[in-house]
Amino acid sequence: MTKPRVEITLCPDGPILIRGADHIIDFDGVAHSTIRPVVAVCRCGKTGRTPWCDGTHKLL
Ligand code: FES
Repeated sequence: MTKPRVEITLCPDGPILIRGADHIIDFDGVAHSTIRPVVAVCRCGKTGRTPWCDGTHKLL
């Protein structure tokens, strides 16, 4: 069985883009499932949709 390929991209002053993951685990250990091919995870801590980026980082 081959492992799924997951790719991580850090956006300057923005989120972490994760391609190929079926879930992410937040800082509290809670798993968040996704069916999207790419998800944006907040890195600034100001999102209103934890753990996902909602674009708030652009206002900082
Ligand atoms: S990185 Fe986008 S809202 Fe935090």
